[in-house]
Amino acid sequence: MHDIRVGLLGIGTVGGGTFDLLWRNQDEIRRRAGCAIRITRVADKDLERAQRVVSGRAAVGNDASAVLNDPAIDVVVELIGGYGLARQFVLDAIAAGKHVVTANKALLAVHGNEIFHAAHKRGVIVAFEAAVAGGIPIIKALREGLTANRIDWIAGIINGTTNFILSEMRDKGLPFAEVLRQAQELGYAEADPTFDIEGVDAAHKITLLASIAFGIPVQFEKVHVEGISQLQAEDIRYAEQLGYRIKLLGITRRRDEGLELRVHPTLIPAKRLIASVEGAMNAVWVKGDAVGHTMYYGKGAGAEPTASAVVADLVDVARAARIPQSMRVPSLAFQADAMTDSPILARGEIESAYYLRLRVEDQPGVLADITRILADREISLDAVLQREPAKGEHQTDVILLSHRCIEARVDAAIEAIGKLPTVLSRVIRLRLEDLD
Ligand code: HSE
Repeated sequence: MHDIRVGLLGIGTVGGGTFDLLWRNQDEIRRRAGCAIRITRVADKDLERAQRVVSGRAAVGNDASAVLNDPAIDVVVELIGGYGLARQFVLDAIAAGKHVVTANKALLAVHGNEIFHAAHKRGVIVAFEAAVAGGIPIIKALREGLTANRIDWIAGIINGTTNFILSEMRDKGLPFAEVLRQAQELGYAEADPTFDIEGVDAAHKITLLASIAFGIPVQFEKVHVEGISQLQAEDIRYAEQLGYRIKLLGITRRRDEGLELRVHPTLIPAKRLIASVEGAMNAVWVKGDAVGHTMYYGKGAGAEPTASAVVADLVDVARAARIPQSMRVPSLAFQADAMTDSPILARGEIESAYYLRLRVEDQPGVLADITRILADREISLDAVLQREPAKGEHQTDVILLSHRCIEARVDAAIEAIGKLPTVLSRVIRLRLEDLD
């Protein structure tokens, strides 16, 4: 077996980590892969940085085509990110008959169907372990370890930035904007944090997990996405008083009617293992019909945790490249001709339990009016918390926890409650998942 020659596009944080890790552990990796895996060419627009990291151990340039057109390169590792150039480079690599390893969840969530189709036609592999939850081998676990199961649902903390912010908000009782500012100073959040805080990054990742779990095409445009930028510190506090923590979860669930695909802040019981995942850590909870509940925990970002996943993919490619395509593990876990088109349910069809908070006049009959509206829409209550009004105040916060029901009914109830003259604020609605 000849050595596997790798061309690296992008040698920033993850690219540098990949270069170093592959170099440092080359003996172990050779023993596992059955051949050496060497990065022989690197392209990066920051030539100086690339030369510094590579330090004479590979050819370096600032032109991706030198990598894509080198016939000696077997695998292209794409670590430049984004949708534009990255898409073209990946398609060019595939057209040139090269396998591809990428950490680019945005690219695959948006253009995955085109890319996987092109790779299948050309007989090459597209591997993307690093695209979801960094160093946690969740793609491999779902695609291979759980392959006997019918997956019921997945719920994951798959964005470290937002988990860090939520942990800090809870620990210190600080508002979102203040914690975000601190997170940016500490380097936990990007200068432009939009993708992270608005749930887009998590939506990219849950799109890929749903595809692998259920054998469906990637459908990023159908994810219902809510981030954490509107989350208020008092809801974190009330949730805690009721025995819950709020986490930004990516959730996908199989129902008789179709599949749920959503990202939003979620109350989960504080006693669940996943509720203890704090700081920038990631965790993915998978429920399979045979195995039951399984949980995968680890670092979802960072140079070496992400490089760990990139290099694992390189070893997989080194092994799988030797066997016919029909015998390889399919990129999306299901054979390309066995994908299904189960519908993704619209937001109104989601089934969840709910947390509702509203500010009301503190007078007789207010709670009765609200609960009647809920009962009329067949929404059953699980708990009610009414804060004692401060001295001299005639208003108070009421928090209601519902049992599971269809979201459209909650929409209708919120609209009706909002029209009550005794209700003084808009109704804050959060979803609650028992994960049982
Ligand atoms: N920005 C991501 C996070 C890491 O905060 O988890 C890369 O996917």
